[in-house]
Amino acid sequence: MPGLLSTSPALLWRRLGHRSAAFALALLAAALLFTFFRYAAVPSASPSPFPTYGHRLPTLVDLTLVYGRDALCLDGTPPGYHFLPGFGDGSHSWLLHLEGGSWCRNFKSCARRKKTNLGSSAHMDTRVKFVGILSDDESQNPDFYNWNKVKIRYCDGASFSGHVQDQVKNGTGFFFRGQRIWEAVMADLLSKGLSRAKQAFLTGCSAGGLSTYIHCDDFRALLPKTPTVKCLADGGFFLDVEDIAGRRYMRAFYNDVARLQDVRKKFPNCSPDMEPGQCFFPREVAKSITTPMFILNPAYDVWQVEHVLSPEGSDPQNLWRNCRMDITKCSSKQLEILQGFRKALLDAINEFKNRRDWGMFIDSCFIHCQSMKAITWHSPSTARINNKTAAEAVGDWFFDRREVKEIDCEYPCNPTCYNTVLDEPYKED
Ligand SMILES: *[C@@H]1O[C@H](CO)[C@@H](O)[C@H](O)[C@H]1NC(C)=O
Ligand SMILES: *[C@@H]1O[C@H](CO)[C@@H](O)[C@H](O)[C@H]1NC(C)=O
Repeated sequence: MPGLLSTSPALLWRRLGHRSAAFALALLAAALLFTFFRYAAVPSASPSPFPTYGHRLPTLVDLTLVYGRDALCLDGTPPGYHFLPGFGDGSHSWLLHLEGGSWCRNFKSCARRKKTNLGSSAHMDTRVKFVGILSDDESQNPDFYNWNKVKIRYCDGASFSGHVQDQVKNGTGFFFRGQRIWEAVMADLLSKGLSRAKQAFLTGCSAGGLSTYIHCDDFRALLPKTPTVKCLADGGFFLDVEDIAGRRYMRAFYNDVARLQDVRKKFPNCSPDMEPGQCFFPREVAKSITTPMFILNPAYDVWQVEHVLSPEGSDPQNLWRNCRMDITKCSSKQLEILQGFRKALLDAINEFKNRRDWGMFIDSCFIHCQSMKAITWHSPSTARINNKTAAEAVGDWFFDRREVKEIDCEYPCNPTCYNTVLDEPYKED
């Protein structure tokens, strides 16, 4: 009855008489409601993880909280993780991902963090999308799509490494219990099937990439019966270098984090001559790792360009502002400095190149984490080195299909790069 919908109610009233008009109005209301729900309804993301091909909506995975006496987020709430069960021949394989999100260095920044998902489970989304290396879609995650997968939430502010037993009283108080969060979450997962894993993979990006270096051997030790255990640190190789003003901004930052959260305890082998923050850099941490490790890192890590190389405090005239946000806006002098930064990264990882069971993929893209999005992990438009995406390189290495030590040529040589363009600077500390 298309005519009915376009006729005014008063006219209808006259034309059809009261009863029929009331009926027509009810129909009209029903039609409108139907239209509303058709468009407003959220497509339900089915948690049933059958392999599908091509594009589809990411699976949403619920948050599970872990209640343990002293494993607590910064604000005292329980930590948590999201678990997506594996299926098919992936049912006995486990992939864990440690969430990232920078660090907090003092009471002021930790107080801000307590009011966010990075410091409190009261502020976490209860369901998150599993994409990239966490995806259950074979077209976006060819080697790990059917594994058991866990995203472990980051809420301690120090890469799951803080060790302060007592609540720190300042204002409403802080809990620096990253190490206990790690232990409590692992105990929980072990009891849910992780202890029987046939193969296991600990991964993480950014601050979670650093956590992966820190906890890789701990993870191996928790799984004595698992034949294959490996680790992947994505965008986690933070460098201890001088910034554009000749200062070691990142070391000062890490010194604060390490002192505040008593992180040093986690690194008994770190030389006593070193400042506490120095022990927290991957180059130091990685020296003692005996488990096979994959270093996935862009040579021009956007986050590091912004926070390690040209932090705002070292650039009072804001000369780096455009370059920090878009590599195509860098001057030739700035590009030269970026090439120096790349060289520092290559020097730092050089000592790990000779480790036969380690892998690396150092692309020349302007990006940060690459395992957490389809476009940077595996898709037709993903950056490649020797025609392999990061996902393919990591898979080849994990399953010993070939040796993977991929070092890309200098920017701007790789036409497959997807370079980040930021709208505004990251604001994290
Ligand atoms: C407690 O926190 C405030 C800022 O919130 C800071 O100014 C003060 O120095 C802190 N106290 C201690 C003992 O560190
Ligand atoms: C690159 O890899 C794709 C498959 O991922 C393949 O179709 C293509 O032929 C390869 N190109 C070259 C030059 O090897």
